[in-house]
Amino acid sequence: MPASIIDGKMIAAKVHEENAEEVAALARDYNVQPGLAVVLVGDDPASRVYVNMKVRKCKELGIYSEKHVLEKTASMDEVLALVDQLNNDTRINGILVQSPPPPQIDEDAVVAAINPAKDVDCFHAENVGKMLIGKQDGFVPCTPYGIMKLLERSGIDPSGKHAVVIGRSNIVGKPMMALLVQKAKGANATVTCVHSRTKNLAELTRQADILIAAIGKPEFVTADMVKKGAVVVDVGINRVDDPNGRDNYQLVGDVKFDEVAAKASMITPVPGGVGPMTIAMLMHNTIKACKLQNGIG
Ligand code: GUN
Repeated sequence: MPASIIDGKMIAAKVHEENAEEVAALARDYNVQPGLAVVLVGDDPASRVYVNMKVRKCKELGIYSEKHVLEKTASMDEVLALVDQLNNDTRINGILVQSPPPPQIDEDAVVAAINPAKDVDCFHAENVGKMLIGKQDGFVPCTPYGIMKLLERSGIDPSGKHAVVIGRSNIVGKPMMALLVQKAKGANATVTCVHSRTKNLAELTRQADILIAAIGKPEFVTADMVKKGAVVVDVGINRVDDPNGRDNYQLVGDVKFDEVAAKASMITPVPGGVGPMTIAMLMHNTIKACKLQNGIG
């Protein structure tokens, strides 16, 4: 039997309903409105699309938003000056600098300059540390958080299961491992991380009850790398040339969908799987930031 589809769009829509209710309650009960500033340095087409989606979703939910676009030649001083301005702006509860920035920008230094209380991406070392030790008063990074929610709302309990994460990025792979391994409800997995230097990669992925592909290589995971009945989560969003596609490209994930879907028990599609959840959790984090900054429990 082919895998059932984990419908990220539908689950994200439900999270957005909850987000909208929270925004309405904050206005009604406390007269406050969450605010998000999104910063884009340069003109990377994919980043532009993501930034616009984030701003549009803010508008739909009643979250105040600002989009700041800097030239691709912007200096570190300009970016840091903007971050400083947003750190000190009381209308702004969350700050997101879209990654990756152009090469002249030291991303680590920019992230370090963001007030950790406004770091809704959970990229700042203080929040990464809090997440790792399981403290609840920081943030959880949006994509891994979205995946944990997808699992929870699809009735998949990782407890005692072998979760294999393909990829070790700071945005997805590493925090994904940290969340799955937590001693906490909805986690408690046994976790393996495989990556570009792993020797016996397919041997390890075949052991996964839950396989999370976040390696950024189109259709990297093939059916022979997957155990029958596994849950497969595809984090990849890769643009591949396609003369028949809109704008001459099509989006594919890190998983060869058709053949893996024939073997897995559940699978996320691309698009419509993890992507919508990332934005849903960004909105959730922005609301949380607003509550923390206003002393609302
Ligand atoms: N680029 C790709 N994903 C993300 C994300 O979650 N946050 C930011 N800031 N940039 C990204």
